[in-house]
Amino acid sequence: MHFHRPPVPVRAAGRDSACEQPAGLPGCLGDPTRLQELVYIFLENARQYTEKGFIKLSLYKRGSFAAIEIADSGIGIDAHDLPRIFERFYRGDKARVRDGTGLGLSIAETIAKKHGGRIEVESKPGEGTIFTIFIPLKEVHHG
Ligand SMILES: Nc1ncnc2c1ncn2[C@@H]1O[C@H](COP(=O)(O)OP(=O)(O)OP(=O)(O)O)[C@@H](O)[C@H]1O
Ligand SMILES: [Mg+2]
Repeated sequence: MHFHRPPVPVRAAGRDSACEQPAGLPGCLGDPTRLQELVYIFLENARQYTEKGFIKLSLYKRGSFAAIEIADSGIGIDAHDLPRIFERFYRGDKARVRDGTGLGLSIAETIAKKHGGRIEVESKPGEGTIFTIFIPLKEVHHG
């Protein structure tokens, strides 16, 4: 997967959004539609759970993995919810006032695992959340 375009600010009401990427990542092997869906799940969550501040998408290289980071300054996730958010149908207490089914992150985890990847999350209630998706980079053979 490549982001073909240069970083473009993403407009969202009341929030600053940004997109950052390094030059020359070798790309990933996988299903482009599923990988796009994967990133979209996190952008959608960031939009839904962030009322003010920022949403930032960054792409960087971490060893043999592409790291796709989605950071927001939203409501954050309570410590007691954090271990359960990837379960099917699980929704955090603070999320229940909004529409949703609780399936997004379980689908995201399935897609990441099918690509040999994984997802990490850090969050502070009231401050924001950072999700990082790790997907193996295509091997580059030097010559
Ligand atoms: N960026 C975020 N900020 C705060 N909480 C989040 C964020 N992303 C996920 N969560 C928490 O994780 C829970 C699970 O997320 P998930 O996307 O699986 O379900 P959902 O957003 O509730 O519903 P849907 O399946 O419609 O997306 C959410 O209910 C919410 O508590
Ligand atoms: Mg969601």
